[in-house]
Amino acid sequence: MKVKEMNKKEQIIKVLDLVHVYKGKVETIALPGINLNINKGERVVVRGKSGIGKSTLLHCLAGILRPTAGKILVEFRNIVDYDEDQLADYRCKTIGLIYQSYNLASFLTVKENIEFPMVLAKTVKEKREKRINELVEMLEIERYLKQKPSYLSGGEQQRVAIAVALANNPPIVLADEPTGNIDSEISTTVYEFLSNMCIAYNTTLVMASHDPEASKYADREVVLAKIKSQEL
Ligand SMILES: Nc1ncnc2c1ncn2[C@@H]1O[C@H](COP(=O)(O)OP(=O)(O)OP(=O)(O)O)[C@@H](O)[C@H]1O
Ligand SMILES: [Mg+2]
Repeated sequence: MKVKEMNKKEQIIKVLDLVHVYKGKVETIALPGINLNINKGERVVVRGKSGIGKSTLLHCLAGILRPTAGKILVEFRNIVDYDEDQLADYRCKTIGLIYQSYNLASFLTVKENIEFPMVLAKTVKEKREKRINELVEMLEIERYLKQKPSYLSGGEQQRVAIAVALANNPPIVLADEPTGNIDSEISTTVYEFLSNMCIAYNTTLVMASHDPEASKYADREVVLAKIKSQEL
């Protein structure tokens, strides 16, 4: 067996009885008890109707939302037990999150947005510049480097958001509707780009998507539903 095939079989994410309840005037059970295993290098598409909990699941996996109950083992460590410092480190080094709503800093230029995660990771200037050039060329956003995100179209901002998520070359990329606001031609480019990245770097991809086209670039599709103790 080749090294890459061996790596592919290694488990990287194990979700155990994951529950998330949003508490407010109305209580919403967004995740009723999810069980999910994902192997290193696997490309998984998460489906399910609007409001079913796809973004909630990705945000829990990303360590930006603490679940109400359950475990999320990433490389065999339960991130639910992490303190704030450990979570910040985890978000910086292990996860690249492409938000459904871009989440770009409006007061920073495109270049500064892409550079920011690398500054947090203490990457030296020369390496930062190299990575920025690589990413903007691949995503065809070179000409926007000096612009503020608000001057860009939805599809362009989406591609900047992808560059930000991938800046530190994270082993796990979580993509929340990464093509939700772009036309089908650019969507195909984005899927190909993410999929090729997984193959080249053995990156694990978990992508929430409504688009049937997304599944063509995935190894597996999981469908969320409102039932307890779901095995995905
Ligand atoms: N911050 C929040 N406070 C309260 N309820 C929330 C919050 N975020 C999401 N919800 C609720 O939790 C449920 C799951 O929402 P989530 O955004 O995870 O769904 P989704 O599957 O990503 O939907 P979509 O396909 O529309 O993006 C929904 O019922 C939603 O209204
Ligand atoms: Mg969502």
